[in-house]
This record gives sequence, structure tokens and C-alpha cells, in this order.
Amino acid sequence: MAQTAQYIVQDNLVKIVDMLNQLFAEEWLAYYQYWVGAKVAAGPMRSEIIKEFEEHAEEELKHANWLADRIIQLGGTPVLNPEEWNSKAKCRYEAPTDPCIFKVLQQNLTAERCAVSHYQQLCELCHGVDFVTFRLSEKILKEEVEHEQEIEDFIHDMEMSLKCGPE
Ligand SMILES: [Fe+2]
Ligand SMILES: [Fe+2]
Repeated sequence: MAQTAQYIVQDNLVKIVDMLNQLFAEEWLAYYQYWVGAKVAAGPMRSEIIKEFEEHAEEELKHANWLADRIIQLGGTPVLNPEEWNSKAKCRYEAPTDPCIFKVLQQNLTAERCAVSHYQQLCELCHGVDFVTFRLSEKILKEEVEHEQEIEDFIHDMEMSLKCGPE
């Protein structure tokens, strides 16, 4: 029951719910950044990279879902209006106006690094205070670190393919 969850973390309730809503907004923006990036990106290794973008998009949406459930458990309300996503989020959405796949990858890398730092902050906020949110933020943090690594690997492969062309 929501009352119990609220009671356990009462001193930090407002801070935790606020941060969960910030991350919830960031997840929706991250989802859209990948989703629309997969539609417009063009360049080398396109089909392979787009597959990864689509998988990441699905995972960002799954994160948004987990965060919304936790916000509700804590007696809060997930952001109801998409117009608020930009004002709540502290990771900026970058529209992929340049479809060059290398640029799109770099935008996603920036977004992933931002997500990693914010989940790290949520872990710190909840450590020893709210074990359920701590476990959740730790679980998402691990996936964001994997996303970051996968994007870095693609960027590295592309840089190497430029260096390692035929003589
Ligand atoms: Fe995410
Ligand atoms: Fe991610």
C-alpha cells in the first residue's frame, strides 16, 4: 500500500519523487531521441546501428515504465503532460537535424553520459534511505552504462574504419 512506502522514506519523499520525475521525463526524451534517430540516421553501418537504436529506445521506455510505477508507489504522480518533459528533464534533447549517423551517435552518447550521471545521483540520494528506489536506480544505471559502452564502440569502429582504409 502506498501509505507504507511513503512512511518509510517520509523525510526524503519529496526529493526522491522529484528526482524520479526528472528521470522519468529524461527517459521519454531519450526514448524519442533513439526512436527518431533510427528513422532519419544515414551513413556507414546504418542497418547495424539502427537495430541498436531501436533496442535502446525500447529499454528507455521500459525504464520510464519502472520509474512511473515507483513514483505511484511513493504517492506521487508521473509527469502527465509531455509539454513538461523538457522543463523537468536536466538532460537536453538534441534533435537529429543532421542525419549523419556519426553525429546522431554523438548526440546519443551525450544523452547516455547524462543519464549515467543522474542515475548515479539517484543511487546516492537513496543509499541507506530508500532501498527499493536504490535497487531500481542501480538496475537502470547498469543498463545505461551498457548503452553508453555500445554507442562508444560504434563511434570507435567508425573512427577506425576511417583510419584503416585500403592503402
Ligand atoms: Fe534509460
Ligand atoms: Fe540509455
